[in-house]
Amino acid sequence: MKILVTGGAGFIGSNFVRYMLSKYPDVNIINLDALTYAGNLENLAGIDDRRHMFIRGDISSVEDVETVFKKHPVDTVVNFAAESHVDRSLHFGTQIFIKTNISGTQVLLDISRHYGVKRFVQISTDEVYGSLGSSGKFTEKSIIQPNNPYAATKASADFMVRAAGKSHGLNTVITRCSNNFGPYQFPEKLIPLMTANALENKDLPVYGDGMHVRDWIYVVDHCSAIDLVMRYAEDGSIYNIGSDHDVPNLEIVKLILKILGKPDTLIKHVLDRPGHDRRYAMDSSKIRKDLGWKPAYSFEEAMNKTVDWYLNNRPWLEHIRSGEYVKYYDTLYRDRLPVSGKYFPRN
Ligand code: NAD
Ligand code: DAU
Repeated sequence: MKILVTGGAGFIGSNFVRYMLSKYPDVNIINLDALTYAGNLENLAGIDDRRHMFIRGDISSVEDVETVFKKHPVDTVVNFAAESHVDRSLHFGTQIFIKTNISGTQVLLDISRHYGVKRFVQISTDEVYGSLGSSGKFTEKSIIQPNNPYAATKASADFMVRAAGKSHGLNTVITRCSNNFGPYQFPEKLIPLMTANALENKDLPVYGDGMHVRDWIYVVDHCSAIDLVMRYAEDGSIYNIGSDHDVPNLEIVKLILKILGKPDTLIKHVLDRPGHDRRYAMDSSKIRKDLGWKPAYSFEEAMNKTVDWYLNNRPWLEHIRSGEYVKYYDTLYRDRLPVSGKYFPRN
């Protein structure tokens, strides 16, 4: 198997590279990543393997992508590369999301077709479905109704992938997973951010009332699902991936504090995210039935492993949480400061 993994220096991509190299002796991986603020070669530390080659390049550059295909035979593409943070798409401009998530995906689709790629796997997200009411779960047939710019660009990319399959016969599959957690996640996302702040006894900024529900999955379980979809899913199919652990944010934050032995008084309710989706929950019965997938880790075990990983990898966190990150954090969170312990709902 000769796989082009894009975004393989990011959180899920780097976990997927490790997963594949350790599972298959005959796999060869080209890892194409632009090394944006979220891409980090430290995420690939310790991978000293002739079956893995890192190339710095941008998926939205025809030249960068063509150079890879000209030099290296590729039979499968797994596209993780993306601008992935909702808050950045809301507060720091949408253009880069359109460029990478939509145009970048289209460049990959066009060149994959040209070079006769056998399978194109698009790593999408449950956010394309928008928000749920108080009951029900997203199925693969749910309406696509994204509510924030990040989600809208991911939904657009899904449609471009579908079109490449329908119009041009490219063999495509799409995975839509719920919220991941685990090692190497950039500390702008809930779990690593709260863990890092708690380790430094800083405030934990919970948006709004903290009762927004996300469905949490350990990243290694996401990787095992992608592997199955990549190898066995039918051409043109879509698979939801989730671990059935949908809980309010406040519960997650309190669990982190409990694991670290820190007080709940660190929690500060702050100004809510605009258009904040209230609830996500995934129906993943299709992948369980068709492909026999199930998560290997319980939520509690995975959370303990994850918090331990950040505890034991303080230099990794400290390298990221200096320089640009300080400016990012200050810009995003200074307007969200709590006043008299109250939060300000936007709507
Ligand atoms: P991440 O932000 O940690 O990593 C993204 C990676 O893509 C980085 O290494 C970055 O350098 C690279 N990248 C960005 N723009 C690029 C470009 N133009 N060309 C090449 N590389 C580029 O993201 P993640 O959390 O690992 O998410 C990976 C994928 O999984 C994304 O497509 C995301 O939409 C999807 N997803 C994420 C989650 C989650 O909970 N994190 C859940 C479901 C789906
Ligand atoms: O659902 C899948 C999506 O999960 C992926 O497609 C995205 O790439 C990924 O970033 C993630 O999006 P979320 O917006 O759900 O993740 P985030 O970690 O940013 O936030 C999780 C929840 O926690 C959300 O309800 C907002 C809340 N939150 C987040 C941060 C960063 C807070 O309350 N405080 C915070 O400081």
